[in-house]
Amino acid sequence: MHHPSPEAALPQSDLAQTSRRGFLKQAGAATAVSALAGVKLPYVHAADDSTVSVALIGCGGRGSGAAVNALSVKQGPVRLVAMADVFENRLDGSYQALKRSGVSSKVEVADDKKFIGFEAYKQAMDCLRPGDVAVFATPLAFRWVHFQYAIQKGLNVFMEKPVTADGPSSRRMLKLAEEATAKNLKVGVGLMSRHNRGMQELAKRIQDGEIGDINFLRGYRMHGPVGSAFTTKWDGKGSELMYQIRRFHSFLWASGGCFSDFYIHIIDHLCWMKGSWPVKAQALGGRHYKTDADGNPYVDQNFDSYSVEYTFADGAKMLFGGRCVDGAVPIYSSYAHGSKGMAVVSKANDCGLPSSIHKGQTPDRGNRSWVSEVPGDEQDPYTNEWNDLMDAIRNDKPYNEAKRGVEASLVTSLGRMAAHTGQEVTYDELLNSTHEFAPDADKFTPDSPAPVTMGADGRYPIPEPGRKKEREY
Ligand SMILES: NC(=O)c1ccc[n+]([C@@H]2O[C@H](COP(=O)([O-])OP(=O)(O)OC[C@H]3O[C@@H](n4cnc5c(N)ncnc54)[C@H](O)[C@@H]3O)[C@@H](O)[C@H]2O)c1
Repeated sequence: MHHPSPEAALPQSDLAQTSRRGFLKQAGAATAVSALAGVKLPYVHAADDSTVSVALIGCGGRGSGAAVNALSVKQGPVRLVAMADVFENRLDGSYQALKRSGVSSKVEVADDKKFIGFEAYKQAMDCLRPGDVAVFATPLAFRWVHFQYAIQKGLNVFMEKPVTADGPSSRRMLKLAEEATAKNLKVGVGLMSRHNRGMQELAKRIQDGEIGDINFLRGYRMHGPVGSAFTTKWDGKGSELMYQIRRFHSFLWASGGCFSDFYIHIIDHLCWMKGSWPVKAQALGGRHYKTDADGNPYVDQNFDSYSVEYTFADGAKMLFGGRCVDGAVPIYSSYAHGSKGMAVVSKANDCGLPSSIHKGQTPDRGNRSWVSEVPGDEQDPYTNEWNDLMDAIRNDKPYNEAKRGVEASLVTSLGRMAAHTGQEVTYDELLNSTHEFAPDADKFTPDSPAPVTMGADGRYPIPEPGRKKEREY
């Protein structure tokens, strides 16, 4: 396939920007040098007409949102050309919603480019050319399967968080991350805090020592039940595997449970503020309510309350509280404490602006020495993460968030495993552990046995802290 020069691949409006033009000249020169040196040319530019094509794999809530973000990027023409899901109604619903959205003119998915089933991801990616982008927004169990194929095809990737739930798939994903870098593929991971402009400025200030040595971090996500975290008994009709995929927050193999799926953002951005990953964790957790309001037993694998104490190599601690209980105090925010002051990292929710720095250890307005100010068009980190990825694709900048995404997923799983087993667990123990939750995720058919099967009482194996110590279930 013919690869146009970086400049030819960009629309005129981008070329009109002086700073961009300077960069492009450098990029063009670098590409020429690489070619002369016999270095493999990067898969940078997608189509001869400079349009980047996108395939959406996993057409649920987030996948549809990510598609809108992808089609709204600042840099150059983009179109959605293929969609894949295991449920036809999810794909149809997503397609209809996209066709009603503000980006409808860029949704060019013909009926024969809508693919259903466990092989649909291949068919959708087969519609792309090297340099285009595949979006992965299925439950995490399929990340490595889909990533492997994208790398084989030379595709750039945007994959939703979390990206792994156990040690073996983390090791596999780390290897794939290296392969993607070796092929110069651009990979974004949906940990959007990292693209929150206020948090970026805060991280810089913290690393410059503005609040001194960080010795304590704390984060909370506590609210009522959300998503599919609590599940009543399967009615036995159809496929048990498909029932579990529909209710993926309930099953550790599919999502890492509510802990991994809901809590990763705050855990990730607090570690970013600290500038390192924790080395170990010990934790509490349990389940208060075992039935729904009508008295039907819940059969999922989650606890409803978690409290994790993470330890960093320098002895600093990070506390994370997670709860899905109605009527208990809701707290959903994060903080970093240092020897010279403290910071509000996320004021509300997973990464809500503004971030701020305060003298002393309380987040009072009177103590405030800095507050983030973010321009209106950069306030949405979901938009920023796509502009950043597309900028890297169009201008051939190094960009691969996969390793960091695996590390954040591992650290999150570390807290979950510590709570579920009642043991202190180290990062290395988890990374090197052998319990893989869904080793056959690349071979599933709708009739495959589910990775966990219902017992005679309709229940699934659950964590039992202090009794099941080596594995979570
Ligand atoms: N970054 C964020 O803030 C954010 C927010 C929400 C969800 N997410 C992440 O996005 C992912 C999806 O979450 P969601 O809330 O959109 O769930 P969802 O159930 O709405 O969507 C998931 C979709 O994937 C489909 N699917 C499942 N297995 C598939 C397979 N093997 N091949 C193709 N399609 C498959 C499902 O049928 C469904 O349509 C999760 O990993 C979640 O953690 C991220």
